[in-house]
Amino acid sequence: MPARARPATLTLGDIRLLPLTWANGAKLAEVHERNREWLGMWEATGEGEQVRGSRGAMTRSYWAYVARHRREAAAGTALPWVIEIGRAVVGHVVIGQIAGVPSWSGTVGYWVDRDHAGQGIAPAAVALAVDFAFGHGGLHRVEAAIHPDNTRSLAVVGKLGFRDEGTRHRYLHVRGVWADHRIFALTREEASGGLVERWNQVRRPKARGAPS
Ligand SMILES: CC(C)(COP(=O)(O)OP(=O)(O)OC[C@H]1O[C@@H](n2cnc3c(N)ncnc32)[C@H](O)[C@@H]1OP(=O)(O)O)[C@@H](O)C(=O)NCCC(=O)NCCS
Repeated sequence: MPARARPATLTLGDIRLLPLTWANGAKLAEVHERNREWLGMWEATGEGEQVRGSRGAMTRSYWAYVARHRREAAAGTALPWVIEIGRAVVGHVVIGQIAGVPSWSGTVGYWVDRDHAGQGIAPAAVALAVDFAFGHGGLHRVEAAIHPDNTRSLAVVGKLGFRDEGTRHRYLHVRGVWADHRIFALTREEASGGLVERWNQVRRPKARGAPS
């Protein structure tokens, strides 16, 4: 099994990462449905089918996404979480496409409910997830693939000090076209000391997860 651990519950301030279950996956699908225009700008075809699908079709499709990530978590090829604040599901973070020997690598994906954007939730969640992946998960490398126009997501990896590795051409199918994506990566060595600690150093005082 590539990842050496299943996802655990992780906490930073009032942000909690909970392992993806059927119950919180249902809530995640609801939040995804409410945010389909916001998320559909950047999602690869197949994650939501929100561009072409009717409401019902979209919801079924995101269920397929939840089901796939539960299967992959059991197989050790994904570490999927829902992000909660209080008892509300506000987003999703996953280390997916996990490969074992020889690269011990994975790809981080993330989104937050539009109503909760701009509060530092995604960087906090990515920091927690990547620290877990490099620690209990046993991975050596995590990358993020970001559409060049997605300035908000570029800000997230920038805040956490991911290294720019350049462009992967026509990498993901987004809004009907094979779109170039910029690749950002970190190895375990580069993240020594921990991304949560790094985020603690750079976040604004009012950002979520900041100590009071
Ligand atoms: C990208 C995303 C996950 C960032 O999450 P977040 O928790 O808002 O992250 P941050 O709080 O660090 O904000 C990131 C940037 O969003 C922008 N932002 C700030 N306030 C905002 C608001 N109220 N609403 C929307 N965006 C805002 C800013 O550009 C900010 O960067 P800055 O802090 O350097 O100014 C979120 O915008 C999102 O879910 N977008 C749609 C899905 C997506 O793009 N996923 C990533 C695919 S690679």
